[in-house]
Amino acid sequence: MTETAHPAFPVQTSGGDREDPPTVPLPPVPGGPQADPAPRALSGLETREVTAWFGPRKVLERVSFTMRAGEITALIGPSGCGKSTYLRILNRMHEMVRGAALAGEVLLEGEDVYAPGRRPAEVRRRIGMVFQRPNPFPAMSLYDNVVSGLKLSGIRASREERDHLVETSLRRAGLWDEVSNRLGTPGGALSGGQQQRLCIARSLAVSPEILLMDEPCSALDPTSTRRIEETIAELRHRVTIVIVTHNMQQAQRVSQSCAFFLATHDTPGRIVESGPTERLFTDPADPRTADYVNGRFG
Ligand SMILES: Nc1ncnc2c1ncn2[C@@H]1O[C@H](COP(=O)(O)OP(=O)(O)OP(=O)(O)O)[C@@H](O)[C@H]1O
Ligand SMILES: [Mg+2]
Repeated sequence: MTETAHPAFPVQTSGGDREDPPTVPLPPVPGGPQADPAPRALSGLETREVTAWFGPRKVLERVSFTMRAGEITALIGPSGCGKSTYLRILNRMHEMVRGAALAGEVLLEGEDVYAPGRRPAEVRRRIGMVFQRPNPFPAMSLYDNVVSGLKLSGIRASREERDHLVETSLRRAGLWDEVSNRLGTPGGALSGGQQQRLCIARSLAVSPEILLMDEPCSALDPTSTRRIEETIAELRHRVTIVIVTHNMQQAQRVSQSCAFFLATHDTPGRIVESGPTERLFTDPADPRTADYVNGRFG
């Protein structure tokens, strides 16, 4: 398809998808939180010929890439090459930026998330995001932080179901044991690493199929980073993860697949090379990949 075939979405400055979502019941979770239910089938994500602009400036060009179900995919590349922009395109957050435009397709389980009539809020529930800086609601209790996405996603839940969900989500995020006896304390009272795991729990509470993580450890110390990496590895069987990282060791530790993005001063960001992480790091096909993964630039 040509770049112009996809209608660049209208600029949305406020309230673009604020209409009340339909309420749906919470999906049943069989067994207790201890008896974690068997994972459901996992979803994959694919982009076709994705090109992105901020105003007149093209920052990504024709990015076609598949993020396979049940894998952890790492996106690497120097600062400014478009990794965060690409991530925000995947769950329709790019369109919230004034002046942003897009061409191409983003397919979640084969269906374009930008199809006419598709609700951004529904896409963002199915494709969750964790940011570079932990952003819990600081004055809100840990309990309320975890369930804060339910209302936004139009998910109804009884008190009992919410209790269950809080425990399950915190367990999956690897935080339960540290906070189970103080769920009423404010989110801002946790350490940075705990806050990031709280944000992961908050994302998991609405049962996303894909979890996007934009440098989730860059504000954390090595111990907290390790803990988050363990959490990511444990989540792999429940949710497909796409993680942006500047840390080459982290990409190698956590991901199975990897894509190397690169932009130059006069060319927009593109994927230079992608494939199994191990191959990209040990036997890259492109000399620019070799230079980057060996720390020779960026
Ligand atoms: N809101 C915006 N308005 C205008 N230009 C933007 C905006 N956000 C990003 N850009 C530009 O788009 C390009 C890609 O930025 P992006 O943040 O996606 O890069 P990145 O690879 O995530 O970088 P980093 O590794 O530093 O986080 C950059 O040139 C940046 O200046
Ligand atoms: Mg970024």
